[in-house]
Amino acid sequence: MIRLLLALVLAATAAGASAQSLLDWTDEEVRSIGRHGPWPPPPVRDPSNRVSGTSAGTLLGEHLFNEPRLSGDGRMSCATCHQAGRDWSDGQAKAQGAVELDRRTPSLWNVGYSHWFGWDGAGDSLWAQSIRPLLDPREMNGGTERVGALLRNDSVFACGYEKAFDRSPDNDDERLLVDAAKALAAFQATLVSPRTPFDAFRDALLAGDRDGAARYPLSAQRGLRLFIGAANCNACHFGPRFTNGEFGDVGIPFFVRPGEVDSGRLGGLERLAASPFNLLGRFNDDTTGEAARRTRHVRRLHSNFGEFRVPGLRQVGRGGPYMHNGSIATLEDVVKHYSEVNPDRLHSDGVPLVRPLALSSEQSADLVAFLRSLDADVPPRPAPAPLCP
Ligand code: HEC
Ligand code: HEC
Repeated sequence: MIRLLLALVLAATAAGASAQSLLDWTDEEVRSIGRHGPWPPPPVRDPSNRVSGTSAGTLLGEHLFNEPRLSGDGRMSCATCHQAGRDWSDGQAKAQGAVELDRRTPSLWNVGYSHWFGWDGAGDSLWAQSIRPLLDPREMNGGTERVGALLRNDSVFACGYEKAFDRSPDNDDERLLVDAAKALAAFQATLVSPRTPFDAFRDALLAGDRDGAARYPLSAQRGLRLFIGAANCNACHFGPRFTNGEFGDVGIPFFVRPGEVDSGRLGGLERLAASPFNLLGRFNDDTTGEAARRTRHVRRLHSNFGEFRVPGLRQVGRGGPYMHNGSIATLEDVVKHYSEVNPDRLHSDGVPLVRPLALSSEQSADLVAFLRSLDADVPPRPAPAPLCP
């Protein structure tokens, strides 16, 4: 009897000690957590972009990214909205271009791993997506000729172009516009967010290092359990970047102004099909046909109405406001949205993956603690090397 009591006490203490610092993760949960890593993933090369992954293309791209002479008024660059010191966004609910836009500036962290671009997926490559702000009169309003002229007439850019593309800039402005965008894409694909407390936890847990894993706060562990379990967040926020790269409807109101809606993915697919720069067009450098596979097979469905791209969640706590239209101010409010979402507000007629979760205040705090564990400090970015010393 005494021995049994002693055993019970010992078991209770052991459980107590570990329960304090490490939840009892099931094998299935460990597998599920494992799929959110490893981080960082290996770099990807984009076969549709001949300068993807090259150092000369990347350097040219970084200089172009910071270049206000690409804009109509000579004052706006990509970096005006995608700021290095603000995780490549701008902290505003709606982007401020030549006029105020209807959507928020997304962060560019880890953008090289995406396959659809923009909140509505109107871009099927990083370089095609990079052309839009150059031309759009509501954004930089630069124009094809302006981009061509800068690469031709500025001796430093002309030299950087020659190094990256192995030819000197000619008079084909449209080609120069596309090449500028390909260099911009090569640069943006290098923007990979740092490792986070979550990554340290994930790796320790998979390696069976209990002490290492136990350093991850309990509230974040409980939030993670909800995220991959009862709350089903990882149905969409899947994989190492916490996005499946596709589109979803989580019931964000989509009225832009009275009588006008942002149809999201549905309109994005129309714009994709109409773009001369899509991967079915003549500027795709991939000769195998493989890079254009998704674009060739995508179909417009009624359920695409009101769908927006699932954002990745790394560095999410450092950003905000949230959602495609900046309509939710804080992470706490995002979690509240998922807790209280009205199913009647879901616009698309697809299978509803979102339902009101009715979280307790402790559960909500845990989810926020988990989301914040996906953040890491970012050291200040050094100025790029000179283009042509
Ligand atoms: C006026 C602010 C502004 C400027 C300037 C700007 N952007 Fe953006 N950027 C945005 C907004 C807003 C979106 C979302 C667009 C959409 O969904 O339609 C976006 C989206 C993007 C995306 C898609 C990201 C993703 O995750 O899908 C990329 C890539 C991008 N911008 C690159 C650039 C480049 C390169 C430049 C310069 C040539 C640039 N941007 C200039 C505001 C800006
Ligand atoms: C049906 C797929 C889906 C599910 C399930 C889902 N999300 Fe989302 N999430 C999205 C989409 C799509 C957006 C962007 C919506 C928009 O902008 O209109 C988003 C946006 C977010 C954002 C804002 C990110 C940003 O940069 O603006 C956060 C944070 C987030 N979700 C967390 C969660 C959490 C936590 C859960 C679980 C409670 C969850 N999501 C469940 C698809 C989903």
